[in-house]
Amino acid sequence: MACQTNNGSLSLRFLEQLVGLPGTSKTLVAQKVCRYLQWLGIASRVFNVGNFRRKLFGAHQPHTFFDPANPEGERLRSQARDHALQEMMSWFRNEQGIVAIYDATNATRARREVLLQECRKNDVQVMFIESVCEDEGLRLLNAIEIQRSSPDYAQMDSEMALQDFKMRVGHYGGHYETMTEKDLTYIKLIDAGSQVILSQIQGYLQSRIVYYLMNLRIRSRNIYFSRHGESLFNVMGLLGGDSELSARGKQYARALPVVVSTYVPNSDRLTVWTSTKKRTIATAKHLPHKKLAWKALDELEAGKADGLTYEQVEEQFPEDFANRDNDKFNYRYQDGESYRDVVARLEPVLVDLERQDDILIIGHQAILRCLYAYFMNMSHERLPYIKIPLHTLIQLTPGAYRCEEKRFKVDIDAVDTHRPKPKTAVGGSQTPVNTHPAQDAPLINIAPVMLPNTPLTTADIAEAERNCSRDPQDHCVEFDDQHLQMCGLSDSRLGPYLYPASSNSCTSIIVSASGSTSTGTSIDISVSVSACTGASVCPSYKTGRTANIDRVAADGREG
Ligand code: F6P
Repeated sequence: MACQTNNGSLSLRFLEQLVGLPGTSKTLVAQKVCRYLQWLGIASRVFNVGNFRRKLFGAHQPHTFFDPANPEGERLRSQARDHALQEMMSWFRNEQGIVAIYDATNATRARREVLLQECRKNDVQVMFIESVCEDEGLRLLNAIEIQRSSPDYAQMDSEMALQDFKMRVGHYGGHYETMTEKDLTYIKLIDAGSQVILSQIQGYLQSRIVYYLMNLRIRSRNIYFSRHGESLFNVMGLLGGDSELSARGKQYARALPVVVSTYVPNSDRLTVWTSTKKRTIATAKHLPHKKLAWKALDELEAGKADGLTYEQVEEQFPEDFANRDNDKFNYRYQDGESYRDVVARLEPVLVDLERQDDILIIGHQAILRCLYAYFMNMSHERLPYIKIPLHTLIQLTPGAYRCEEKRFKVDIDAVDTHRPKPKTAVGGSQTPVNTHPAQDAPLINIAPVMLPNTPLTTADIAEAERNCSRDPQDHCVEFDDQHLQMCGLSDSRLGPYLYPASSNSCTSIIVSASGSTSTGTSIDISVSVSACTGASVCPSYKTGRTANIDRVAADGREG
């Protein structure tokens, strides 16, 4: 939406103004809206008055600083607000900003009116976003989060910080006026969005922000990304396609349930999203969770380059290849897509992702780059070069001040499909595009599985035998050598690995296998476990029990 400015030129300037008491997730909302708009390609910036205050007067101010009865505190805080406002207006004027997000309490009608006047003078349209927290429990959770992550309370005793923060909220609470102005544009989010009130919303951009905010659930949760296991196309260096997993990719798929149940807290609550391509579906195959396949999560369409190697693309389409290197985000493959196209098609996935609890997305290199860039607030220039290696589980924990990341690298080799920006390309000599914060993220190297060494009891085996009478035909996958080794067998005849018809509701898993130990003794083992949620590869990991060969032998079950 465009509006005419005083000097006759066209301007597109919007202000999203946060309103709310301290500890109502305003900063988180401001950051989220900003990231969302930037991700869509709309120039946006947050102007956080707290940051200006910290810069001008230092971070550690006691609650009395915020007391309206303290004239000196009031004067300094007003200075911080003015600084933020001036900087915002200069950003609009000099840097072609489109959406500014003014993050402050804006607690009274009078205060909001001052801002409105200033914006009207500068031809800036204003939309207020008020965050109200009526739920006592939620208020406490927010206060704890602020004490934990706000620079105001860094290095302070947590109990003292919490008390100080509560006093600070009390100072604002006395004169806070919730939004009821009928002629103003606003969205009011009550209790982290469980109730939403809209007033005077109009136009494309405001509707877009409302759509986003109505889906935003403000609570702590994790998001997990994993690329599919290594595919046959990956091994051959080919782009796109719909190939099967390589042997190592299948191994990763088998290890994934163990990795998930070991490293994902409350993993039974996880929902798994895949694309509609074989390689992501096969990677999710052994996970016992609820699954959803999205067409929108399919890999970037490489058009005429599909099924070729990078070298072949360079040879057959040299101009295209150079253009892609020069502007990878905007380059669109012939008959295919650009990263910009992919961001647009991912928008519904992203908004849905914001609504969900813990989700694991098993996706593709380009797709996960786009989603990762949103959470990690990375520019379009850096996005197409983000490193999302194969056989690595990425955990993101979004917070108000930053998104925390952990990477779990599973010890199963895979090819590296990352192609850095060539130095000769436009902007190629500036190294930062090939690097990103993830390289500093904790990298946890993990073996495919960890074998606990608790022996089976005779009761386990008896239980296994009882369950063995079930018809195994429908749900039988093969053990391979690697898998048998994980279970303590060094050399094997392939045996069936059985898992129940409904892996979500099962109460027991049966593994039965034949093989020989490293000393050559031939054995048959049966393992049974109950409560299988989260385990479908080697149930022993889930329950902390495994087939201990010696113990089986001692029990006289040896074949
Ligand atoms: O190489 C694996 C792959 O997922 C291809 O299918 C896809 O074309 C490519 O990565 C995308 O990465 P980039 O944009 O770096 O070429």
